[in-house]
Parts: sequence; C-alpha cells; structure tokens
Amino acid sequence: MGIFTKLRGMRDILPEEIDIWKKVEQTFIEISELFDFREIRVPILESKYLFEKGIGRDTDIVTKEMYEFKDKKGRDVVLRPEGTASVVRAYIENKIYEKRKIARFYYLGPMFRYDRPQKGRYRQFYQFGIECFGGKSFYFDGEAIQILNITLEKLSIGNFVFLVNSLGCKNCKFKYTEYIKGYLKKIVDKLCNDCKLRVKVNPLRVFDCKNYSCHQSIENIPSIFDFLCDECKEHFDLLANFLKKNNINFKIEHKLVRGLDYYTKTVFEVFCKNQDIAIAGGGRYDYLVKEMGGPDIPAVGFAVGLDRVVALLNQEKRQKDESIYFILLGEQAKIKGFDIMRELIENKIKVEADYEERSISEHLRIANKYGKKLCLILGENEIKKGVVVIKNMETGIQEEIKEKEIVKKLRERLK
Ligand code: HAM
Repeated sequence: MGIFTKLRGMRDILPEEIDIWKKVEQTFIEISELFDFREIRVPILESKYLFEKGIGRDTDIVTKEMYEFKDKKGRDVVLRPEGTASVVRAYIENKIYEKRKIARFYYLGPMFRYDRPQKGRYRQFYQFGIECFGGKSFYFDGEAIQILNITLEKLSIGNFVFLVNSLGCKNCKFKYTEYIKGYLKKIVDKLCNDCKLRVKVNPLRVFDCKNYSCHQSIENIPSIFDFLCDECKEHFDLLANFLKKNNINFKIEHKLVRGLDYYTKTVFEVFCKNQDIAIAGGGRYDYLVKEMGGPDIPAVGFAVGLDRVVALLNQEKRQKDESIYFILLGEQAKIKGFDIMRELIENKIKVEADYEERSISEHLRIANKYGKKLCLILGENEIKKGVVVIKNMETGIQEEIKEKEIVKKLRERLK
C-alpha cells in the first residue's frame, strides 16, 4: 500500500465495474430521452444558501451532512448533496418557463453527504435524476414512476416495490404537521433524544426514526389521509389507479415522509426485497420554484442511487473480457501489428496489446488471467505466410487465418 488512502466514505470505481455503471447510466438515459427528458449539467459546487432554502434549514442533510467551506472570497459554498435544488435554480435563472410550458430534465453525477458510511451509503455517491416542471396533473407523477419502473425492469432488477404516500398541499401538510406536533408532545417522554428535538423543529421526521421505542410509540398515530383536502385526495386516488392500471408494484405507506422539506402531495421510494435501503426516491414539489424566487410552477421528479443499483447488478456473474489479446512476437510483428490493430479498431473490434518482449507462454498466461476469450498471435513466421493465428482460450483450439479475413473471422468467433 502506498502512503495515501482514500477518504472515509469515498471509493474508487475500477475498470472492471465500469461496464455495469455504463449500462445502468445508459439505460436510464435511454428511457428518459424516449420520454423527451433532456440532459442538464449543473455545477457540483453551489451556494450553501441554495440548499438551506431548497431542502430545508432543519433537515439532516443541511444541518449535519453538507460538505461546506468558504471560498477564497469568504463565500459559503457546498458540494451539492442532491440535484433538485440546483436544477430548480437553473430553471429559474435561465427563465426556462418562458420557453417551455412543460420542461423535462435529467442529470447524473456525484453528490456528497457527510453521512455515516455503511453498506450502500457513501459520502460521495452517484445519482441519476429527472425533474419535470409545469405540470400539476397526476399523470406527471405517474410518468416519473413509470420511467423508473420501466428502467429498473429493463435492467432486470427484480423484486422491487414502490412505497407511495401523499403529504398533501401546503394546507394539508401544515394541518397534519401541527396535529402530529400536538400528538407527539403528549408522548414525548417515550421518544429518543433526537426525536424530542424533531418534535420542535420537524415533527414528521419522527416517522423516519429507526429507534424501536419511537417506532412503537407512534404505531397508531393517525394517518395523513384523514387530513387531506378533496383535491389532494383525488390526486392521490387517481395516481393509485394509474399505478394499478400500469401494473406497477406499489404499496401505500402512510408514514413515508422523505428527508427533504420541499415535497408536497405525492412522495415515493423504491425498495428491493431483502434490502433495508431505498434505491430511489422522489415526489412532487409544487411550491419550490416559487419559494426560490421563480413563478408559481409545480414540479415532480426522482433520483436513483446509482451505486445501489450497480451493487444489485454486481451480484450477477461478471462477464468475460470481450477484447482481443494481441500477442506480437518480435519487432516486425509490432510494426505489422499496428496496421492490423487499426483495421480492427475501424471495425469496432476491441483489442489490447502488450508491447513488452515476453515469451508466448507468458503472454498466454497473462491473457488467461485477464479472462480473455480470444488471442491473436503474430510472429515472423506468420508475417512471412501472410496469416495470423487465432487462439480460443476456452477450447484451446488454434487456427491460422489469412490476413484479409481477420475481421470477418474474429466477428464470427466473438458471437
Ligand atoms: P434522496 O432520497 O435523498 O432524494 O436520494 C435519492 C437516492 O439517492 C436514494 O434513494 C439513494 O438510493 C441515493 N442516496 C442517497 N444518499 C446516499 C448515500 N449517502 N450513498 C449512496 N446512495 C445514496 C433526493 O436526492 C431528491 N433530490 C430526489 C428527487 C428528485 N426528488 C424530486 N426530484
């Protein structure tokens, strides 16, 4: 080991894993683009106040988890802990509402939270997210959930369920929060120290407490559904019907509140069976654009934790290395080899060469260790005869092929 190690909660994603990462990212991009979402790239470094205003001053993310520091001019800046607040800022700052009635965006990249690292929880992690502005119909909520559902199915992630809830509009949410505050005050002695504080600043967050005693104490707490106005109730019922009609596996979870303050009406999370962490979360945030200084425009979106999705797929068997291992024996072979490699590359055949002088048996040992399926061997004899040798590493069979036929034969063998 060298003298430097990575910081706690950070990790290196090595080339062996990259194919799965790309597959996951590309699948989310492909499905989102088919629904006409367009990519937006926002900065990783933003003003601290953006997230205080966006996510909420009293949330765990803002109070405990942001990587914050002063820049050289003394401004308070943070590494973004999530993408929604930044996309809302960009939407308002670039006056996109003047250009499009409905504006759909997707983004992907690293997010940072100074949380306690554990399985599936990192301090730098990666999200893919979508945000859709301008629609208040439940169909937009349904579309977001559908995109997530289609993509997870396409990635063959099995056994996942959407937990859905409604937090109601501003009025319903306020009424319910006040009610819960009163309820919790009566049982405050039974709550843990963190929850005692939550009762004062953010009572609904008591629902997220993992402490057994808190869990028990609120088991029979009245549900938000008793507090929803007719419009919020109808919005939720129509969405639930939509999910049923579209065969989306969901469960209504009255105690789902999510850790960010901007949500109103629909909230949802995706859980995989046997896993205690959410792989994605999202919901509607109809007041955030206005609260951040923009016009009165509703919005809905989600973000998926790419690290967690990749981990689910990583459990599957690793694929064989698909690139050709090119063994070049001697100086002439290296010179000739470059012509052949050029032809392979032009034909989109991946090739890896090691230009060090080694014996053929050492080369073959290396190719085997790397998990290569095919080797291409070129030495002085082959050059004289105008051929190359293809060796199948699984069967051990070797065949001489004419130089002109390399691409054709490799394609057949790679199938
Ligand atoms: P979130 O629930 O905070 O929502 O994060 C979304 C997903 O990011 C989580 O479900 C999880 O898979 C992943 N994630 C969060 N923290 C970590 C971590 N420390 N390590 C690994 N993965 C993590 C949001 O961020 C909202 N902006 C989602 C949204 C978009 N709502 C509306 N639009």
